[in-house]
Amino acid sequence: MSAETSEIQELGRSARQAIAAAQSPQALTEARARYLGRKGSVSALLRTLGELDPAERAARGQAVNQLKQSIEAQVSERRAELEGRAQDRSLAETRLDISLPGTVAPAGHLHPITQVTRDMVAFFTSMGFAVEEGPEVETDWNNFEALNMPPEHPARDEQDTFYVEGGHVLRTHTSNVQIRVMTGRKPPFRFIAPGRVYRHDLSPKHSPMFHQIEGFMVDDRVTFGDLKGVLYAFARHLMGSETELRFRANHFPFTEPSAEMDIRWGDEWLEWGGCGMIHPHVLERCEIDPEVWQGFAFGMGIDRTALHRYGLPALRVLFDGDVRVLEQV
Ligand code: PHE
Repeated sequence: MSAETSEIQELGRSARQAIAAAQSPQALTEARARYLGRKGSVSALLRTLGELDPAERAARGQAVNQLKQSIEAQVSERRAELEGRAQDRSLAETRLDISLPGTVAPAGHLHPITQVTRDMVAFFTSMGFAVEEGPEVETDWNNFEALNMPPEHPARDEQDTFYVEGGHVLRTHTSNVQIRVMTGRKPPFRFIAPGRVYRHDLSPKHSPMFHQIEGFMVDDRVTFGDLKGVLYAFARHLMGSETELRFRANHFPFTEPSAEMDIRWGDEWLEWGGCGMIHPHVLERCEIDPEVWQGFAFGMGIDRTALHRYGLPALRVLFDGDVRVLEQV
């Protein structure tokens, strides 16, 4: 083997190593320049061809050209490899692993009053009661007069009414819905009406805005026994199957007879609400014949029920919006 041939082979070997050693497209470009660039070793070799005999020049020229082509081929193969690798890396870095659990946004939960209200509504709708709503700004007629409380009636004072311009009031109870439902309609009726009510009263046990749920049933054979049965089933649904109720004689202008009901809570009796048989005057005001139709009504505080159900210390806890409390119930 001539010295020239081994020089070409040596160059080929060193070029192959340099190409294999290049770890980036940039390094590869530099390696290529060292051999094929204007000042590269292969180019230098080509320039020496002119010094050779014509016979030798052809054979050697061919060998150098083959080397050149082989280096080009290796460079482009290596380039493709390096670029492919760079792409794999960037794909790996930006990879979206759709099997990873997501970041869960805190969803919060329903306010205790809403929870209790929904539970109450679920109970009554399961018994075939409809759900009715009335406005919070109400006429004197619907809130008082039609409920057998004429202007001079002392019961109006007990209700600590907020008056609104134009003779309207903020409804003091959900009993206004009784009048709205009966007016212009014919019995039978069976509905509940949960909602906000307002009284000018602020103390640890009272808030000027609170929630009541009204229950109402009119048919042609409704008795006080039906009322007690419904209330017992209701109380036991809410507070447990052993829950006891107590009925105390009381007075409401729109029921006769009327009772206050207490619900048993441990060793205590809690005032829960009022109830009674619908007063004939109320039916008459709504053009319903009390000789044919009769029924019961009741109304209780939703907030107070929530308070005891969740063991909260005071009513205001329900309205403060303190997240530490809301997270617990
Ligand atoms: N509306 C009465 C109150 O707010 C409760 C009640 C409702 C009483 C229905 C009897 C019948 O105190």
